[in-house]
Amino acid sequence: AKKVRIHHLRELKERGEPWPMLTAYDMYTAELFDEAGIPVLLVGDSASNNVYGYDTSLPVTVDELIPLVRGVTRSVKRSLVVADLPFGSYQVSVEQAVATAVRFMKEGRAHAVKLEGGRHFAPHIQAIVRAGIPVMAHIGFTPQSEHQLGGYRVQGRNDGFDSVVADARAVQEAGAFAVVLEMVTAEVAKQITHDLDIPTVGIGAGPDTDAQVLVWQDMIGLRRGKAPKFVKRYADMADVMLGAARSFADEVRGHQFPGPEHTFH
Ligand code: KIV
Ligand code: NA
Repeated sequence: AKKVRIHHLRELKERGEPWPMLTAYDMYTAELFDEAGIPVLLVGDSASNNVYGYDTSLPVTVDELIPLVRGVTRSVKRSLVVADLPFGSYQVSVEQAVATAVRFMKEGRAHAVKLEGGRHFAPHIQAIVRAGIPVMAHIGFTPQSEHQLGGYRVQGRNDGFDSVVADARAVQEAGAFAVVLEMVTAEVAKQITHDLDIPTVGIGAGPDTDAQVLVWQDMIGLRRGKAPKFVKRYADMADVMLGAARSFADEVRGHQFPGPEHTFH
């Protein structure tokens, strides 16, 4: 199997072929999603609330994420693995951004990094790219800035339209190889996708982006409760796991497990 490279993603855009991206944080998910032909896997800072049990993406640290990145990169044959730079690990300075990106490449063996921010982060993106590290940008609603943005709000409406477009152009100009558009109107996503040469990856950005990304536990129905409007559940994994755990518990309590076929003599 040929490794996915950033130029392949650009070629898919040129051919008008949409592509899927999923998060992954460990070996089995990485193996399965690689086998399913998902070209890009993201070790998101969403591990904060999907692996570590924090309530937002803000608390997770570089030291917590690097081992997850390492597990994913060890497990793929073909997928391009993008490591998300967590809150506080790149905002301080351009130098800090490069140093953190280098850690994810050296210690995590990532193939690219992602960071949140538009035109104000163009210098950081440019410096990381100059260090030889591909950067995926992330604009629109950026969860690390939740408190500044005033909560989970759709971006790009009314006065916000031009601002999101300006961010998109700036990150392309800075050398990003792709840009995530999160919770923006379908109208602004369509405009940006048309304007840019680099692929756009939508999450809550409508049908016209070059790619679509979801958090895997949302996509597979492992996370329960009310999901955001942009999530589609393709399976009910929580029910499957709950059923298996209950059956195991019942069989242990009922002296049915282990059976003769599981037993050594
Ligand atoms: O951390 C994450 O999972 C993300 C995607 C939703 C784009 O940034
Ligand atoms: Na993220």
